[in-house]
Amino acid sequence: MKRLGVMLSGRGSNFEAIADRIAEGKLAAEIAVVISNRPDAPGLEAARRRGLKAVSLPSRGLDREEYDRQTIAELKANNVDFVILAGYMRLLSATFIREFPLRVLNIHPSLLPAFTGLDAQHQAFDYGVRFSGCTVHFVDEHLDNGPIILQAAVPVECDDTAETLSARILQQEHRIYSEAIGIVVNGKFRVEGRRVVLS
Ligand code: GAR
Repeated sequence: MKRLGVMLSGRGSNFEAIADRIAEGKLAAEIAVVISNRPDAPGLEAARRRGLKAVSLPSRGLDREEYDRQTIAELKANNVDFVILAGYMRLLSATFIREFPLRVLNIHPSLLPAFTGLDAQHQAFDYGVRFSGCTVHFVDEHLDNGPIILQAAVPVECDDTAETLSARILQQEHRIYSEAIGIVVNGKFRVEGRRVVLS
């Protein structure tokens, strides 16, 4: 069984959706550790409630390399095969990426490469796009940039607000993240340049 290390900074609803799929037997993997850079992240508490190992590693005052050395050590101590970023609001250093090549996944609430960075749902709403959505991708050292594993499109309705749009995107996030993790842990893909070809 492949071992997942989840990293999060906040609410943790994507983490919980993944944990639910595992509990339902729909995703063959196990969560070895949940790490947060924010000691007060609700996602950490949710992990504890589920009886999972939850580790708080505050990032304040540490530079990126120094901090990433700590998270790498924690992930390795827990024999993690894949790193799952679930609302983890920090860029990873090249050192981190080198430790886990094609083994770090992220979910982003837009159809990349549109609307990278913070508040992607608000960015898309304010831009006036007719469709937005979410993207699961491999992580490289650039912001919201690596090869795309799965996307889901979400139409923007006339009576949407940024909040109602965000909520519908989140439903799709919860669906496609577990699906993408299943593809990756089962090795049902190959990468050709930027393209992830599913098998
Ligand atoms: C999710 O919408 C996720 O896509 C986004 O943060 C939210 C975390 O929610 N991630 C990013 O914007 C990363 N650039 P959650 O804590 O409830 O999973």
